[in-house]
Amino acid sequence: KAAEKGGYDYFMLKEIAEQPQAIADTLRGRLAETGEITLDEVRLTDQDLRDVDKVFIVACGTAYHAGMVAKYAIEHWTRIPCEVELASEFRYRDPVLDRSTLVVAISQSGETMDTLMALRHAKQQKARVLAICNTNGSTIPRESDAVLYTHGGPEIAVASTKAFLTQLAACYLVGLHLAQVRGVMYADEVAAVVEQLRGTPSKVDRVLEQMEPVRELARDLAEAKSVLFIGRHVGYPVALEGALKLKELAYMHAEGFAAGELKHGPIALIDQGTPVVCVVPSARGRGVLRDKVISNIQEVRARGARTVVIAEEGDDGVARYADHLIVVPPTPTLLAPLVTTVPLQVLACEIASARGHDVDQPRNLAKSVTVE
Ligand code: G6P
Repeated sequence: KAAEKGGYDYFMLKEIAEQPQAIADTLRGRLAETGEITLDEVRLTDQDLRDVDKVFIVACGTAYHAGMVAKYAIEHWTRIPCEVELASEFRYRDPVLDRSTLVVAISQSGETMDTLMALRHAKQQKARVLAICNTNGSTIPRESDAVLYTHGGPEIAVASTKAFLTQLAACYLVGLHLAQVRGVMYADEVAAVVEQLRGTPSKVDRVLEQMEPVRELARDLAEAKSVLFIGRHVGYPVALEGALKLKELAYMHAEGFAAGELKHGPIALIDQGTPVVCVVPSARGRGVLRDKVISNIQEVRARGARTVVIAEEGDDGVARYADHLIVVPPTPTLLAPLVTTVPLQVLACEIASARGHDVDQPRNLAKSVTVE
């Protein structure tokens, strides 16, 4: 077992460390010399993809958070309306589906029953289904019309880490492929984003090299009653994922919010010393969002919160709002979750271990849930 963990105390730490490689493996060989993105097993024609007039993403748990990020990217790049839905809710809602609907099922294991049932429902309604999956030959990809494997390698820890980042990378590829096939983006524009994507593994490496302050912070937060996470745009699903990791591993109350929603209720939770983890968007690109999150941080601080701020290196204006500042390398807005999620994974893992929990085998959870 110790050898399998490659010198790490937990599989989860090993898998967190493998993330740069895992992202690179997801991206490898996808870009043809012509600039075209190639997927794995696509039993759909380009015409099928051109006919798509709506995208539904279905998934559970961490994969659902990947889907939430994907919605921002897919709509932005393809201009096709895109919804993301918890797989366990999907079919019971009787969604409007037809042959021009593309359903994207995201699943690490490829065996999650809720996601499989959502996929089967979509197929009965004649929708096309594309799976994003880490497990070759598993049920979800076998029953789908197309598959993009994440090639992230086996994930042993129950709480998902590298699978999440590779799902993000795969979702970006799907968005870019759709945009290209439909003529919304030119090959050179796609290639430019792929280049940025190819730069993300080394950024994740840099984040991992700077985790000592996060470990110290974890010891500090280990006794907190509750930890809140806020973000906007793609930082919102990152906040949800940070909170989910903490629930799963540390058994602590943790909640993620869209920072703009704070004033509509959650701000009432803030008390003297409440830790609030704030994911700050890039100052470049969508600077407006960054400024809005800064004012949200000021609001929670004014009510006594202790702020943990995740921000870009070089965003010098944020330090004074941060009781703890964690910096990540500058990354284009839509791709930023690939770097901003990483400190939150480490934080949850370290808090759980400080509280004496088995990080790899959290109570009550299963790696793959094959019942509805
Ligand atoms: C379980 C796991 C989660 C995972 C979810 C979806 O609940 O504990 O970590 O995100 O299933 O799994 P999947 O294999 O479909 O991605």
